[in-house]
Amino acid sequence: MSGPDDVDRLAAILQAAYSGELAAGLAYRGHWRSVRGPDDRERIRQIEREEWHHRELVGGMLARLGKSPSPARERRARVVGHTLGVLCHLAGWLAPMYGAGRLESRNIVEYETAARLAAGAGWPEFVECLLAMAEVEWEHERYFRSCVERHRLGRRLSLWPAPPPKREIRDSFSREMGLPPTAPAVPLPLAGR
Ligand SMILES: [Fe+2]
Ligand SMILES: [Fe+2]
Repeated sequence: MSGPDDVDRLAAILQAAYSGELAAGLAYRGHWRSVRGPDDRERIRQIEREEWHHRELVGGMLARLGKSPSPARERRARVVGHTLGVLCHLAGWLAPMYGAGRLESRNIVEYETAARLAAGAGWPEFVECLLAMAEVEWEHERYFRSCVERHRLGRRLSLWPAPPPKREIRDSFSREMGLPPTAPAVPLPLAGR
């Protein structure tokens, strides 16, 4: 049985994610503008767009719960996002890539946790969207990790722990909820063909 506490916990993590996406969107706006390589620039710009989209989706969930974003978190996120966006122009190429990768690895877990809380709080209709956002954050983490790893100096740094394979986002959820494993995203070739 779910209770008001479960909904409050879900709302709290969604408020944190909502403001986190604001900080991320602002920071990435500064980040892509500070990067010269056209491929990296475009990828980070796309990541910025995905963060704004996440914010919209999470905002919709909060509204459905009858909750508002936290004004204090919003204020803090605005300051942090703008500051990081400016710092990207001063900090060189590697440091913002490293910082972003580290943050993205936490975002994966945040949406995975939110999906579990949604299931427990009686909002199963949020689960698919939350897991899909965790998967997008997984892609973000992988991109920033690859940036650090292709940098001469970055290769010598010790990196944040690598997240489990992307499939585990859904598989671990299904296991914990007692559901059958999810079908592979790409169909396996049929034997004997
Ligand atoms: Fe995001
Ligand atoms: Fe992200």
